[in-house]
Amino acid sequence: MFCLESTTDPRWIAVVVADTDRLLADHAYCEKKAAATAMSLIGKYPNDAFLVPHMLKLAQEELEHFERLYGVLAARGIQLGYVDKDPYVGELLPLARKQGVEGLIDRLLISSLIEARSAERFFLLAEHLPDAELRALYQELAVTESRHHTLFVTLANHYAPKDEVRARLKELAVEEAAIVARLPIAARMH
Ligand SMILES: [Fe+2]
Ligand SMILES: [Fe+2]
Repeated sequence: MFCLESTTDPRWIAVVVADTDRLLADHAYCEKKAAATAMSLIGKYPNDAFLVPHMLKLAQEELEHFERLYGVLAARGIQLGYVDKDPYVGELLPLARKQGVEGLIDRLLISSLIEARSAERFFLLAEHLPDAELRALYQELAVTESRHHTLFVTLANHYAPKDEVRARLKELAVEEAAIVARLPIAARMH
């Protein structure tokens, strides 16, 4: 699916169904982080007139997602709690090259992989969660995050030839699949 090099272990579904409250709180944080990441790219590339408007719009959408998830938590009496370290993102980010335009391209492609993995899992949640309200929420969010996945690849294509971007995305996707396989299965988004 998407550009991913693996599919989610089916055992993940059983784990999140058993502890959906924890999944929802973790998911809320993921949305908050996605908004923060878009804002931080604006801070890092403030003079990029191509990138900034896209990141502005994305930050707004992700903040809206955070608001929705926060509403779901509040309605169910679930506390947001404290931020758990996110080992998935923590292992992905150092894969980005450090310098120049390559650094930006990698940052965009890593974001596209995070969006793709999220969307893949949202589709699973939309199918398997016992709660109909949550199934509908995840169905809707799966479509949006799929679009975000595509957006990040499209943005990366602005900075390098398409086949170069595709090749780099493939390399990073192989690494992402290895990270997912290595991490313990937990009641969290990644
Ligand atoms: Fe989102
Ligand atoms: Fe997103």
